[in-house]
Amino acid sequence: MSSLSEDARRQGERVGLTADTIVIHGGKPLTGRIDVRGAKNLVTKAMVAALLGDNVSVLKDVPNISDVFIVKGLLEAHGVIVTETGDGELTFDPRNVTSAHFAEIDAHAGSSRIPILFCGPLLHQLGEAFIPDLGGCRIGDRPIDFHLNALRAFGATVTKLPQGIHLTAPERLRGAHIELPFPSVGATEQVLLTAVRAEGVTELKNAAIEPEIMDLIAILQKMGAIIWVEPNRTIFIEGVDRLGGYTHRAISDRNEAASWASAALATKGDIFVANAKQPELLTFLNVFRKVGGEFEVFEDGIRFWHPGRPLTPVVVETDVHPGFMTDWQQPLVVALTQAEGQSVVHETVYENRFGFTDSLNAMGANIVVHQDGIASITRRVPHRKLEQAAVITGPTPLHGADIRVPDLRGGFSHLIAALAAEGTSTISNVGIIARGYEHFIDKLRVLGADFELAD
Ligand code: UD1
Repeated sequence: MSSLSEDARRQGERVGLTADTIVIHGGKPLTGRIDVRGAKNLVTKAMVAALLGDNVSVLKDVPNISDVFIVKGLLEAHGVIVTETGDGELTFDPRNVTSAHFAEIDAHAGSSRIPILFCGPLLHQLGEAFIPDLGGCRIGDRPIDFHLNALRAFGATVTKLPQGIHLTAPERLRGAHIELPFPSVGATEQVLLTAVRAEGVTELKNAAIEPEIMDLIAILQKMGAIIWVEPNRTIFIEGVDRLGGYTHRAISDRNEAASWASAALATKGDIFVANAKQPELLTFLNVFRKVGGEFEVFEDGIRFWHPGRPLTPVVVETDVHPGFMTDWQQPLVVALTQAEGQSVVHETVYENRFGFTDSLNAMGANIVVHQDGIASITRRVPHRKLEQAAVITGPTPLHGADIRVPDLRGGFSHLIAALAAEGTSTISNVGIIARGYEHFIDKLRVLGADFELAD
């Protein structure tokens, strides 16, 4: 099992980032134009979907992020031929799918949860699948019980082994009635990727309906699947005997767009995010506007800028779509440190997503995390058992600090904070950011950031 820093370095190296550390001289607004490509949260799943076909698939607008390389490695380990057929265009030939060795799957997977989504397609293609090492650091505390229960409902046998989890399906998987305890994105994708080729009809209740899931459904439909999305989070899937390939342009990355929007706000900057799309960002844009951020939607992207006057505090709750996405809160919290008064961010999707605030406090922020959440009269989302709330009191000047990036979105927030802060910050483990932010070093350069890379 590799350490976090080895893993981070590998993530960076996969996309050509050899440095471990970035030294940032902050206090300068980020201004300029950058672009976002296909959504990390769709592209990786679309790549897995290619496994289900008996013909070649083509995916366009694939970003150069290390998560894509992880899935590419896993597909290749299973005999899929992956070819780069253009800038951001990958072609998948799944006509010779084979079993991969435990160790090979483990080596490619790193800290990623992606192998979980290979289960359904591999059970259909080969009758068996393997998920590596669920012990701890690889998948952390994020459970996979919804996934395993769904796979069992389809008829798979789940066996826990010392190296991980082995799944078998001696017979064709059968459609099932499944109700998720929470509208999990990954578990919904698991059900879709399994049900499309199962025998009979699957009913999925309490499904996630994120835009990336709708895009995955569009891909599966192109391949020949029959999927009905009903009101009230219910999805019916009529299983078919075979699926073909697809040609698809991935939906744009709304999480990356929202991150750069928050970067513009936190650094008092002005950023045009080419290819950012308004429909998937409606909720984010409402909050951005309430904080005082300015934006204008164009045909080819969205311009985000600081209003030049004090920012307003907000109360916001993360939620499943169409709510305020949990991945948007970390970059926004950095901007909220500069709002005049007290903001509250309730995290209701994950039980532990405020670890990054320790470093912000070390830079001068005033953020108190309440582990059991707090009551608020303006709540829209009902309380969940494991939620947390962060109370951010601003404005507080930020100063440079030495920070070790803990995870993807937290790491991007640290970058923004360092760019907004007066003085110099040294941020290590930056390879993790390459998991989901394409060419982020080049983009920082384009936006006028003052920094150098170090080992
Ligand atoms: C996906 C996204 C991530 C986003 C999240 C929520 C990808 C690659 N990642 O993650 O960016 O923040 O959706 O929108 O698409 N849970 C269980 N048991 C399970 C599965 C999930 O209890 O078997 C819980 C999780 O611990 C969490 C909640 O359900 O509290 C939501 O997780 P989920 O929607 O599954 O997130 P991911 O699919 O992992």
